[in-house]
Amino acid sequence: MCGIFGYVGSEKASPILCRGLQNLEYRGYDSVGIATVSGHLQIRKDVGRIGDLKTRLTLEELGGNLGIGHTRWATHGPVTPGNSHPHSDCHDKIAIIHNGIIENYLELKTKLVERGHRFSSDTDSEVIAHLIEEGLSKEGQMPGKASSWNGSSFEDACIGAFKQLRGSYAVLAVYEGEEKIVAVRKDSPLVVGICDHGTFFASDVAPILDWTKEVVYLENNDLVVADREKGVKVFDLNYREVVRPVSTVDWDIEEAKKGKFEHFMMKEISEQAETIQKACIQDMATVDRIAGMIKSGFGVFFVACGSSYHACLTGSYLFSKVAKLHVNVVLASEFENYEHFLTDKTLVFAVSQSGETADVLEAVRGAKRRDSKIVTITNVIGSSLSREADELLLMNSGPEICVLSTKTYTSQVVMMALLACALNGDDEGCVQKVKDLYMDVYNLTAKSMRDRLKDLARDLAGKDHIYMIGRGLQYTTALEAALKVKEVSYIHTEAFAGGELKHGPLALIEKGTPVFVFVSRENEDRIVSNAQEVKARGGYVIGVSDWDNPVFDRWIKVPDCGDLNPVIQAIPMQVLAYELAVKKNLDPDKPRNLAKSVTVL
Ligand code: AGP
Repeated sequence: MCGIFGYVGSEKASPILCRGLQNLEYRGYDSVGIATVSGHLQIRKDVGRIGDLKTRLTLEELGGNLGIGHTRWATHGPVTPGNSHPHSDCHDKIAIIHNGIIENYLELKTKLVERGHRFSSDTDSEVIAHLIEEGLSKEGQMPGKASSWNGSSFEDACIGAFKQLRGSYAVLAVYEGEEKIVAVRKDSPLVVGICDHGTFFASDVAPILDWTKEVVYLENNDLVVADREKGVKVFDLNYREVVRPVSTVDWDIEEAKKGKFEHFMMKEISEQAETIQKACIQDMATVDRIAGMIKSGFGVFFVACGSSYHACLTGSYLFSKVAKLHVNVVLASEFENYEHFLTDKTLVFAVSQSGETADVLEAVRGAKRRDSKIVTITNVIGSSLSREADELLLMNSGPEICVLSTKTYTSQVVMMALLACALNGDDEGCVQKVKDLYMDVYNLTAKSMRDRLKDLARDLAGKDHIYMIGRGLQYTTALEAALKVKEVSYIHTEAFAGGELKHGPLALIEKGTPVFVFVSRENEDRIVSNAQEVKARGGYVIGVSDWDNPVFDRWIKVPDCGDLNPVIQAIPMQVLAYELAVKKNLDPDKPRNLAKSVTVL
């Protein structure tokens, strides 16, 4: 789940690479490295963040008009300088960066070691540099041999190397003396950016918006050669040129910047009064068509991970409640256990803000092997999941940079509500309800609410355990709230269905144990009696509700918005999670061990 970035053009590459990696850091932030070619190859890398290493390694001093940069999220090999990218060959003439997993790297490495190659890392990625070196030595070629489009030795050696790889990969490669970058992608995301002074490569669209909105979305097994003089061309792995359209991104640069906010998390939380409206801007004919597919589908599955999974769970409650329809919600990483009864009449919803989550992609490919129909709900046009779809609904949330999903979660919930209403032929009614939420949502990030949540964060920051309970739509909200708090504050936070407490979790409650209770008009009595069970064991009850209750030790007032409660009740919990991270001096945008899109299985 690393971030890769590349540039070749007329500008000095290293400052561009540093800024690109800064913009990409949400994809992984264990270690950073850059390689540039200025006649000879220069590589600088180490453990740490680009912000520090830029200075410590004087990265912007690196010369040359082309280079590649990498920010790592470790999969193979511990976080060490040697395991950070770029990786090179035995003679430090070739440098590669990689995002993904090379499943057959051990087999390849064994062969290469037998042939005398020396490895300097524990990573799977390093084999790529040595395979290219093998290809070149076969050709017995020296750098700088005149290249032609039907392939100089460097491209041929790269193709030879890429064809031996199995797994998921986006790779950029450079070679001393060659004024070009050779790239390939399979299952891992990679886009090309084009502007008047050069060509960009990045794992995502948002990081290149600083320079261009003109992007090329690559298909699997596309090979790209970006030459300083000749520009950029796309080929298949048999070196036949292929045409890929240039698209214009409709996000603007400011959306991918913090603006007046200290962190992306708070900026994105504060955008929700707008973003939930934008989630309703859909082609209603498409929404109705998809509603028709749900009705006629023989088995409907929602497949997702993390917060997107919680949004789907909320959706299943809304489908049942609003449209009297049952849908299945399955964790993407568990979906293979359900594949047995997928048919061409099955409808599979792939829900993913990034559109690149490997578990969801794997699930979708399994379903497609059984001719099931795919509806994708994503925030990223051009993403892998958007291209696997038979029907596509875009979330319109704008770029989400903070690793935690906040605005995209509430947008997904709104889209679930919209689909549930469309099944009842009342999508307009739903859009109106969302419109009516504007001020309530806006006020939830107002100073008064933030101050109250800051106080609560101060009191909870020292806790080891926090629990959350709810029933119905409040249960799925409790699950999402618990995920937000644990992801960013590192406090063990768990959610339970209120009715489950007595079946075990109540044993966890002792004097002062904080328990959040999500209440709505519908299930007030039952969930309040659960709160009393907690209180009776000394628990500290924090009510999230439209009205106070004597059982509450603390009350967070949130208007009751019926079926849209999962939107309105999630937001103060996002703010609380943020305030807890700030209180504990943790980085809310880049929590430890996590990354924005999980592109490995
Ligand atoms: C949520 O805050 C996390 N970032 C994570 O659980 C996320 O929801 C999950 O990885 C799914 O991501 P996706 O929506 O991009 O597929």
